[in-house]
Amino acid sequence: MADRPTDMAPVHVLVFPWPLQGHINSMLPFAEGLLGAGVHVTFLHTEHNLRRVDRAASPRLRFASVPDGLPDDHPRSVAHLSEIGRSLRPSASAAYRALLAPALSTGSNADGGFPPVSCVVADGLLPFAIDIAEELGVPALAFRTESACSILAYLSVPSLVGLGEVPVPAGADLDEPVRGVPGMEGFLRRRDLPSSCRGHGEAGELDPMLQVLAKYTAHSCKARALIFNTTASLERSALAHIAPHMRDVFAIGPLNAISAAPASATSLWREDDGCTAWLDGHADRSVVYVSLGSLAIISREQFAEFLSGLVGAGYAFLWALRPDMVGASQSAALQEAVDAAGKSKVRVVDWAPQRDVLRHRAVGCFLTHAGWNSTLEGIAEGVPLACWPFFADQQINSRFTAAVWGTGLDMKDVCERAVVERMVREAMESGELRRSAQALARQVTRDIAEGGSSASEFERLVGWIFPNRL
Ligand code: UDX
Repeated sequence: MADRPTDMAPVHVLVFPWPLQGHINSMLPFAEGLLGAGVHVTFLHTEHNLRRVDRAASPRLRFASVPDGLPDDHPRSVAHLSEIGRSLRPSASAAYRALLAPALSTGSNADGGFPPVSCVVADGLLPFAIDIAEELGVPALAFRTESACSILAYLSVPSLVGLGEVPVPAGADLDEPVRGVPGMEGFLRRRDLPSSCRGHGEAGELDPMLQVLAKYTAHSCKARALIFNTTASLERSALAHIAPHMRDVFAIGPLNAISAAPASATSLWREDDGCTAWLDGHADRSVVYVSLGSLAIISREQFAEFLSGLVGAGYAFLWALRPDMVGASQSAALQEAVDAAGKSKVRVVDWAPQRDVLRHRAVGCFLTHAGWNSTLEGIAEGVPLACWPFFADQQINSRFTAAVWGTGLDMKDVCERAVVERMVREAMESGELRRSAQALARQVTRDIAEGGSSASEFERLVGWIFPNRL
């Protein structure tokens, strides 16, 4: 996005993501967009994460941190999401207030040349950050890093419950369509709802995770506006159904596609730097890239099915396999497969520079968990997706990938070697999927280019943040 004139009162936005990889990966490119618009940005990490990322600050970008209250060796994994949430609020609040308040009280440039914070953009999963900012007189906007279709589902939880659709009873036919999510009647099946819709609490009430997500989504309605990392061409209908519930809605994505920052600026893991050289040695569209994101953990059985399916499909594959995703015995099995197939056929890394990998000419398809960033990154590069959703919004994202955009396949709820093999083959070989994926990539490129829907929405957002700009 174009640089703005600087002859106007400086504006300082504090950007506060939920402290997990997927959230940082969409909110840092957003911060970059603001920098390009002449805004000063404080990007707020937790202390633990700030120690892990590359802090390439610039004159108008600074990184700050708040404590999350957890010991440094805490795993902070998918099994601990509620614990992270419970700990963060009381631990971070005081430091967060201090970041907002002194600047306000001095009203000067005393804070390292940064003007007072004039606006907060906080992850919608951090309602306390929105409430504290407003209490201190700082306008706060909510940012949701998930798809708009999943947020519409969370917003619809009261009607889904009222209609008896949720919680989905154990043993129910998951192919039955559900009522209660506007615009998706007859299309959305039980299996496509966010995964926590299937869960139950101890007394048969809603899954605690779903309760929290529904509550926080309802809280986002109170924020000055809701920002989405999506674009109208992908999610026009969901955005239109969400808009009446919100004070304002901005769809400004896919943000990964506007980011110029190296992936290391956001990565909490150390990237393997040999992936690109390995891909260079392969023919165009001959490699399957496999990654199940930053949180998924797979069982020994699932690992064996994926591995057999990938080997059976017969293509070279690059697998980003976090060490905490599988146990040591699985890693040994994988090493055996690598040795059997040869190093040019299989490469396994702990963490890949994913955006660079997806952009590489050698990648023919992406076996993904359909996390929203991964989905958008695949879409932006025109790569067909084979989706195996793990949890949360991934169930609905994979439904849209297969049934709305036609850019991938959905192996939801099935993890069998024959299915993995068949879907990987089809994603690699189907001309129709590739043509749809490439057409969608061209569309989202138009959306973020000057005059496109996301670029125009971003301009409107900057106008909201910069009310007195020229
Ligand atoms: C989950 C949700 O599914 C997501 O929609 C939500 O917003 C946050 O929580 P996660 O498992 O982190 O997300 O997946 P995803 O949203 O796809 O984000 C993973 C990010 O890590 C992507 O930006 C991807 O490029 C990056 N990544 C992953 C790497 O850079 N290297 C890897 O090896 C694996």
